[in-house]
Amino acid sequence: MISRIAVLASGGGSNLQALLDYLDSLGDDSPGEVVAVISDRPTAGALERARAHDIPACSIAKGADGAAELFRTLHDASVDLVVLAGYLRLVPPAVVHHYDGRLVNIHPALLPAFGGEGMYGLHVHQAVLDAGVRVTGATVHLVTEEYDRGSILAQWPVPVFPHDDAATLAARVLQVEHWLYPRVIHALAGRGEIVLDGAPPFSFTEPR
Ligand code: GRF
Repeated sequence: MISRIAVLASGGGSNLQALLDYLDSLGDDSPGEVVAVISDRPTAGALERARAHDIPACSIAKGADGAAELFRTLHDASVDLVVLAGYLRLVPPAVVHHYDGRLVNIHPALLPAFGGEGMYGLHVHQAVLDAGVRVTGATVHLVTEEYDRGSILAQWPVPVFPHDDAATLAARVLQVEHWLYPRVIHALAGRGEIVLDGAPPFSFTEPR
């Protein structure tokens, strides 16, 4: 059975693109198909990427109306798995409960550090730099009613270099996100174990 995947995104959607490219690369062996892309922002680049793939894409209103609309949209598309990819809003409780264990997010740091409300985008990477840690990374986790607190499914480390700023660090972590997230989603969609076969096909060395 092919899992029907919805992606929720507020921004540019590079993780959505990585997932689409990865599933395409699997051809007939793909365990899942993205059947809906939903945003809270009508101008989100992720919506454009979805439309370029002929995937139904829509933005939903804020507040209680939006929560009901989100639930209805997921239900009408017979979604099995909900993937957050840079989605900045809390997912409404009804959706969290209905998709319990089938609702995932990627966070650009090693949770439980550097997560929670306000920890998104460059704020995360700046907090990592301010703390002086030498290793950051990406975390895929289940979604609960709180930001970044659900069970951790997979993580991958990324070095922090002395001359990094938030933007250089974000770009390095994003490369790992694009490798990690599709593979975890593949495992979840196929109802299999999460086994990351080998390291990403790149390594990070400090620029001279
Ligand atoms: C990623 O860094 C992701 O970890 C975080 O939001 C960012 C989304 O980037 N949750 P993009 O829109 O997928 O390019």
